[in-house]
Amino acid sequence: LRRLAESHAPHLAIGTAVSAIPLLSDASYARILAQNFNMLTPENAMKFQAIHPQPDRYAFADADAIVEFAERNNMAVHGHTLVWGEALPRWVTETAFTDAQVQRLLADHIATVVGRYKGRIASWDVINEPLQPFAPELRTGSPWYRAMGEDYIAFALREAHRADPVARLYINEFACEERNAKSDGLYRLAKRLLERGVPLHGIGFQMHEDMTEEYQPVNAEAFRDNVQRFIDLGLEVRISEMDVNLHEEDSPERQVAQAEYYRSLLELAVDQPAFSAFSTWGFTDRYSSLQDWWEPKGFGNGLLFDPQMRPKPAYDALRQAL
Ligand code: XIL
Repeated sequence: LRRLAESHAPHLAIGTAVSAIPLLSDASYARILAQNFNMLTPENAMKFQAIHPQPDRYAFADADAIVEFAERNNMAVHGHTLVWGEALPRWVTETAFTDAQVQRLLADHIATVVGRYKGRIASWDVINEPLQPFAPELRTGSPWYRAMGEDYIAFALREAHRADPVARLYINEFACEERNAKSDGLYRLAKRLLERGVPLHGIGFQMHEDMTEEYQPVNAEAFRDNVQRFIDLGLEVRISEMDVNLHEEDSPERQVAQAEYYRSLLELAVDQPAFSAFSTWGFTDRYSSLQDWWEPKGFGNGLLFDPQMRPKPAYDALRQAL
């Protein structure tokens, strides 16, 4: 995959989310990762609770291991994520800080994490999931919003830019792939930020899709049409967390439909130079995060390699799209 992408779609990084445990313990995982991708996103290791578990203690070991793996294998790193309402440690959510203290601790967090990897992390999800799950308004429950209102977004982007002026800074969101009330809200948010001169460089579209009898995934043409308005603002865009959940046992037919869907999205990104990356949320069903979320637990078949690490039709379809 990686070799094809580098020769046929040089604008497009081909990425995947990576977890520290299999990276450090499963040789076939590490080998397939380095062979097929030229960008990785730490799946959990850079989230606030993982990397900053106590007020005066950062825990960089897993994040460092992932970044060093990327460097040894000539892969870019996409940082995930600096500011989110989830994956926060208790010391952040349960201490009665003043608004000024919250602002200071956020600035310290961003300066420390971005600063540690300055020049080594090409792009960051500075803001993750700022909007209500299925509505255009901002989420208001996080300590960041409660302390600063909407300004937490501009504040965080400016702090990240100060810490690494070269890094590309993103807002990452789900359920915004097609035109709908939520993506309209994301569009207006991006426009407001750009009009104020805030350093926002791109939008990540997560693309966690379901493909069942009941749910059809977002149509590639509807995505292309929606994404264009963000590109017209001067932003770059990325598919940041793609998986295609089949919810039940694989059949050859369903695997082929899944493969065709993957292909349609990668083709779109190959054709549009404003796409900076096409990234899946993991690459093997052996360690898919879909296993944590969906019943039956321990089951998930939304990725490119099966639990035995054999390439699925989706893998071949992505190669053909390049
Ligand atoms: C998920 C991880 O994949 C899981 O391992 C973890 O338990 C929860 O978070 N949107 C995001 C990601 O931006 O950070 C989430 O990752 C998936 C949804």
